[in-house]
Amino acid sequence: MWSRKRFDIDYIDLIYGLGAALTVGNSQRQGLQNELEDWWISDSTGEAIACLSVRSGWDLLLQALQLPPGSEVAMSALTIPDMVTIVRHHGLVPVPIDLDPMTMAPDPASLDRAIGPQTRVIIIAHLFGGRVNLEPILAARDRVGAILVEDCAQAFTPGFRGHPDADVSCFSFGNIKFATALGGALLRVRDPQLGDCLRQIQSTYPVQDSGHYTRRLLKYLGLKTLSSRPGFTALIWGCRRLGIDYDRLLNQSVKGFPKDELIPRLRHQPWETLLALLRRRLQGYTEERLAAQTHRGQRLIQLLQDYCPQILVPGVATLPHVHWVVPILAQDPEMAIATLANAGFDSTQGNSMTVVNPPETHLEWEPRNAREIFKHLLYLPCYPAMDDTTLVSMAQALRPIFSPSVSEFLRMGSP
Ligand SMILES: Cc1ncc(COP(=O)(O)O)c(C=O)c1O
Repeated sequence: MWSRKRFDIDYIDLIYGLGAALTVGNSQRQGLQNELEDWWISDSTGEAIACLSVRSGWDLLLQALQLPPGSEVAMSALTIPDMVTIVRHHGLVPVPIDLDPMTMAPDPASLDRAIGPQTRVIIIAHLFGGRVNLEPILAARDRVGAILVEDCAQAFTPGFRGHPDADVSCFSFGNIKFATALGGALLRVRDPQLGDCLRQIQSTYPVQDSGHYTRRLLKYLGLKTLSSRPGFTALIWGCRRLGIDYDRLLNQSVKGFPKDELIPRLRHQPWETLLALLRRRLQGYTEERLAAQTHRGQRLIQLLQDYCPQILVPGVATLPHVHWVVPILAQDPEMAIATLANAGFDSTQGNSMTVVNPPETHLEWEPRNAREIFKHLLYLPCYPAMDDTTLVSMAQALRPIFSPSVSEFLRMGSP
């Protein structure tokens, strides 16, 4: 069985992390943080800030901005639930911006509607590895005088530090991201004064729990082994014999902060070992490593289009695109998962994303495209270890179950 995802980290990196946990001392923490931030910003402008996670950085920013309660935050209508929870925690009102299924960029009509005099912040997520064109959003930002945050959590490429005109660009190195350090994030903040303010708030936080991070390094040594083809086949076999729902088990094993403790857990500074591993991952990460993944993604999409010409791959028309994941829309995702599992492929609907609900006063702002995409979304396994023959057999397995009706709806759909 081909597992849904391979972690983008080598055994040697995990061992390096464990070694650093034993040898890097607290006195080196600030030095490591400064070095990493200086390196990140060296070819760019503004301030870099290393955080525990993108969610920590987003919470930091909303603290620093001190917006009046009830101010609106216009958000890409598809994002991770915690990004919305954090907005609400600050007494702000999330307003969804619906997305074009072909590009996953803001739909122009929805963008116009979502951004008004109450909008103080706009946050746009580059989804699935594609990078959306920010020009229309920059114009909308300038029209209302808001702050534009670019959420690049799913769109890391070496050398890219965000759009130069975005106010804040955030990159995540969480468990399933490219160049993962099993946590950590880097923010580029265009206004140095705002950057200083974020840094000052973060400096009051306690440092991340060292035992927790060390246990995570050990856990991922095991999970990495289990995500290999024989390891994953054995895991599925074992789960089936023991009556364990392996999809739930896997989703839980890569889960982030517990919901009821979200805000206090976000408010920590990254531990020195995390900073050391992040520095190693980023400074050693090559274009070639990413190109191998991008190439597999492109090849799979081409095969899907050959074998299932009606298939809709959300975001396919976005350029540049590194295909961090390869999603498709399936009429009946559960049936597609079962069919693919029979053919030896572990696909998942995941449960990491959510649709941003419209404010109660404007239920007519319902993001219809995002809702429909979310309902039918299915992630296919796709990584460099899967050769052409393997990708062909996955595309072939999908052919009989694919129905055109969902994609027809989405092609015509406008909110
Ligand atoms: C679109 C998007 N935004 C934000 C995040 C949060 O990143 P982090 O785990 O670093 O908080 C993620 C994580 O998956 C994401 O996909």
